[in-house]
Amino acid sequence: MVVDDLAALGELFAARCEQDLEHAIAERGTASLVVTGGSAAEALLPRLANADVDWPRTHVFWSDERAVPPDDAESSYRLARELWLDPARVPAASVHRMPGEAADLAAAAAAHERELIAVCGDPPRFDVMLLGVGPDGHVASLFPGHPLLAEQYKLVAAVEDSPKPPPRRLTLTLRALIGARFLVVAAFGAAKAAAIAEALGDPASRLPVAQVLRAAERSLVLLDADAAGRLPGPAR
Ligand code: 6PG
Repeated sequence: MVVDDLAALGELFAARCEQDLEHAIAERGTASLVVTGGSAAEALLPRLANADVDWPRTHVFWSDERAVPPDDAESSYRLARELWLDPARVPAASVHRMPGEAADLAAAAAAHERELIAVCGDPPRFDVMLLGVGPDGHVASLFPGHPLLAEQYKLVAAVEDSPKPPPRRLTLTLRALIGARFLVVAAFGAAKAAAIAEALGDPASRLPVAQVLRAAERSLVLLDADAAGRLPGPAR
C-alpha cells in the first residue's frame, strides 16, 4: 500500500492492531504486538496512543533495541514510551522491553528470551509485528550477510557489530520473526526503494526483509511514494 500521508498510514496501522489484537484476545485470551524503532515507529506509534486496544491483555515486545539505557535518546523503548505507552497508559506488566543497558548483552539476550518464551511460547507466534527496513534490506538488527541470519536455536541474540550505529544491539532472530500472524513492514524515503523492489520482486532474494515477508502468514507493506519508486507500475 502506497500512501504519502503518514497520518493515514498511522490510522491504517492502528485499525489493524485494533482488529487483530481483539481477535487474538477473543481466541486465546491474550495478544502480542511487536514494534520496531526508527522512522516506522515515529510515524505509526503515535496513533496507537488512542487506539481501542485491551492493553492489559496485550503483551508488547520489540524487534530489537540499541545497547543504551531505557531513558537514552537512542532507545527504541523510550521512543515508544513517549509516543504511545505513557499516553495510552499501557500497564507495565504488558511491556517487555529489551534490556539494552545490560553490560553483558549475551546474558541479557538469554534472559529476554526466557521472558519471551514464558509469555508467547517457543517459537512465539506474534499477533501483529511492525518492522522497519534499512536501505540495505535489514529488519530488526538482522543485517544482510550477517552470520546471525543463520541462527537456528536462539530467539533473541546480541549483536556487537551492527553496521548501523550504535554497533551493539539486542535483536529477535529470524526464528522469532518468521512466525508472525500479521506482519507490517513500513518503509519511507527513496533510500529504501531498491531494497523494497528486490524484496517484493525477487522470490529468491536473501535480504532479511524478503525472508520475513515470504514467511509471514499475512503481511502488509506500507510505503510512501519514494520508497515505492522502483516498483513496477501496476504493483504501486
Ligand atoms: C532501529 C531498528 C531498525 C530500523 C531500521 C529502519 O535501529 O531503529 O533497529 O531495524 O527499523 O533500521 O530504520 P529507519 O526507519 O529509521 O530508517
